[in-house]
Order: sequence, then structure tokens, then C-alpha cells
Amino acid sequence: MKIAMVGSGYVGLVSGACFADFGHDVVCIDKDQSKIDRLHDGVMPIYEPGLAELVGTNVKAGRLSFTTDLAEGIKDAQAIFIAVGTPSRRGDGHADLSFVYAVAKEVGESLSNDAVVVTKSTVPVGTGDEVERILQDSGTSHKFAVVSNPEFLREGAAIGDFKRPDRIVIGAESEFGREIMREVYRPLFLNESPILFTSRRSAELIKYAANAFLATKITFINEMADLCEKVGADVQDVSRGIGSDNRIGSKFLHAGPGYGGSCFPKDTLALLKTAEDYESPVRIVEAVVKTNDTRKRAMGRKVVDALGGPDHARGKKVALLGLTFKPNTDDMRDSPAIAIAQTLQDAGVTVDAFDPEGMEIARPLMPGVNMKDDPYAAIEGADAIAIVTEWDAFRALDLKRVRELAKAPVLVDLRNIYQPSDVRAAGFEYSSIGRE
Ligand code: UDX
Repeated sequence: MKIAMVGSGYVGLVSGACFADFGHDVVCIDKDQSKIDRLHDGVMPIYEPGLAELVGTNVKAGRLSFTTDLAEGIKDAQAIFIAVGTPSRRGDGHADLSFVYAVAKEVGESLSNDAVVVTKSTVPVGTGDEVERILQDSGTSHKFAVVSNPEFLREGAAIGDFKRPDRIVIGAESEFGREIMREVYRPLFLNESPILFTSRRSAELIKYAANAFLATKITFINEMADLCEKVGADVQDVSRGIGSDNRIGSKFLHAGPGYGGSCFPKDTLALLKTAEDYESPVRIVEAVVKTNDTRKRAMGRKVVDALGGPDHARGKKVALLGLTFKPNTDDMRDSPAIAIAQTLQDAGVTVDAFDPEGMEIARPLMPGVNMKDDPYAAIEGADAIAIVTEWDAFRALDLKRVRELAKAPVLVDLRNIYQPSDVRAAGFEYSSIGRE
């Protein structure tokens, strides 16, 4: 089967490469000529473990190709995926659908055979209806169906998530749409991955509801962590204790500096906008968004406290270990590290930082922060060390060397990757999240 993927960003490229790996004939399309040129040269526009190899294998096998020519790319495709960005619109937090609608228009004008048009981009409820109207207005004489097929890929684990999904959600209004989608995902049907066929509007809402629920879980455990610190409890035990109840589930209960990334911040805001439009408030999510926003700067203040409080922080130096919003990605979007560094700088603290993949992207977002070549270079002369992202590289630091290099043995572990007793035994003043 031939599949066209319009938009070769994170979602489009991972999905396109995985569909090709299933044996489909896939064309990834993008307006950005330099991106397509680099893909032709085997250079990935994003950092995702295993992606370069997967793309390379499938290009070599002749199942995956790249083009900037949409009309040519969608020719003979039975499924045309729209996987372009839906960023937060400046000013109001609504999802910006201009890219999705522009693609729908171009697809309608270029369609040369019957096809299913699938929105994979995260889009608010009702977007599928609008895409359908745009296709109708384009005057195409070919049969088409508009289907919603949200993705649930985590950065850093996207290929595994695609190939072994917890579920696949397909929102289709016609048998033609369902039939083509069954064919698209046939290898996963054979694997018995659960597939939920539903209405298009339900599928669109499922994506937002899932992300908002996960963001809520994280925010809940983060607030429990704060309470643990006050009452003298241990958040990791609380998390285990509640998570082993099947009704709650153990995942997404790791307390930390607050969620970031390309999805949770943007999608929770967009859900609130939809709720506002339909006058059906989702107050829990409103609280989650506010709580998570304030948490990031609060984490900066926690580091300031470790330096002895605002009166003693001025002129001191902090080593930030980890800048990306989570490990195994170079993504800096809404990363807590940005607000933490800012809070430290506002308190007159100098910030040296190291991240295994994110420093190039971080540099313009974190003016005044000194990017160092390795963790020990950042630690040298520091009055405190703050672990912000749980990269494996920080899990087994040479504590003896750290003590020798740092000016003061103060470690603030915002991801709880160390055992308090171990670090204290190594001579550190140690603070973490919800485990005082
Ligand atoms: C998320 C969803 O998981 C995915 O299904 C959706 O398609 C896109 O958004 P992603 O943003 O890649 O994926 O990262 P994820 O692993 O979900 O983490 C999001 C944020 O939550 C990170 O900042 C992470 O550090 C934080 N987090 C996650 C916690 O603080 N605690 C947890 O227990 C889990």
C-alpha cells in the first residue's frame, strides 16, 4: 500500500519510517527543502534513538523516500497523513491550525485518486469536520474520507511506542475510512495490538484527554512530594504505595521539577481553550496548568535555598546537569531547566551547565548560561550542583571527583536519581524531591 506523510517533523518522520518498516511504500513530504536534502543524505532533523538506522534501512530497501513536491508525493497514495505542527497560537493558547488547513487545501487541489486523509497532528475537536469541508470545497471528484488517528509517541521511545502501542485510536465516519486504516495498521492487528474504532470527534478528544490526564497524574504526585517534605514522608514510597493499586497504575507518578516538552504544556492549554469555547470548564486541568507553571520557578528557589537562601546566593555558582525536558532527546520546549536557570540568574547566581544532547538548542534559550563540555567541567568550582534531567550519564557520577572539583559539596537532585544515604555518606549536603 502507498502512504504519503505530509510533514516530516518528529511525528511524521517516526511514523513514516515505521510504516515503511511494516512493508508499506512511504513518501515523506515537507516544504523545507534543506530538511529534505539532509534526509536524502541520511541526516536526521531530530535526535531520536534508532531513527537514523530505521530510516537508512528502509530508504535502502526502496520503501521510504522524501520529497518537497506534495502533488507528486500523494500520487497513488491510498492514505495521506497530515502530520504538521499545531503549535500554541501566540497570545491565546488555541492550537494554531493554519498548517493543517493549508495542507488540506493543497491535498484537495492535488488529489489524483481516491484516498483517506488522516490527521495525525494533535488537533482540537471538530478539526476533522473542517478538513472535510476544505477537501469538499477544493472540488475534487475523487472519493475521500477524513479520519483522525492521534499518536501517543513519547520522545526518546517513539519507535518502540509506534511498533508496540498500548492502543491505536481510529476515528472514522465511513467504512471506506475504516477499511483503509485497517490495511495501514494490518501488521499491528496481527500483533493483536488493541485498536479502538470510534467517531472522529471522540478520537480527537481522546488525545487531549490522555495528555491532560497524564499531566494531572504528574502534577498530583509533585504536590504530594511537597507535602511529603512538610510532613516527613517519602514520596517514592507514597508513589509505590498508591501505584500498585491497579486502578491508579504506577506510571507517571515520578515526582520531579514539573512536566515540559512539546505535548503536555501545549495540549493542556488547547484543551482548556476548547472547554472554554464549549462553556464546559475542566477545572482540574486549569489547576494543573497553573500548578506546573509555578513549580518550575519554585524549583529554582529550591536551589537558591540550598545555597543558603537569597541573601547568600548572590555571586555564587551553580552547575546545572541536564537541560532537556527529559532524557534521550534534544528537545528543550518548555523544559523546567529554562525557568530554573532564569530564577538562579535573577538571584545573582552564575550558571554553568551540561547536557548530553540539548546544549545547541538550549544556548539561545538560556542567555548567560555557560555551556560546558562535560558534567565535571560544569561542576568545577560550583557552590551547588543541581540535577535537572535524569540522563543516565548523571546516575553514576564519580562522587569523589565531584567533591574534589566542587567548591561546596551541595547536591540538589530534582529527579531523585540518588539514594540519600549513599550521597550523604559520600559527604554531600543532599536535597531531593519529597524525601526530606
Ligand atoms: C507525551 C506523552 O507521553 C505522549 O503519549 C504524547 O504523544 C506526547 O507527549 P513526551 O512529551 O515525549 O510524551 O514525554 P513524556 O515521557 O510523557 O514526559 C513528559 C514530561 O513529564 C517530561 O517533562 C517528564 O520529565 C515529565 N514526567 C513524566 C514526570 O515529571 N514524571 C513522570 O512520572 C513522568
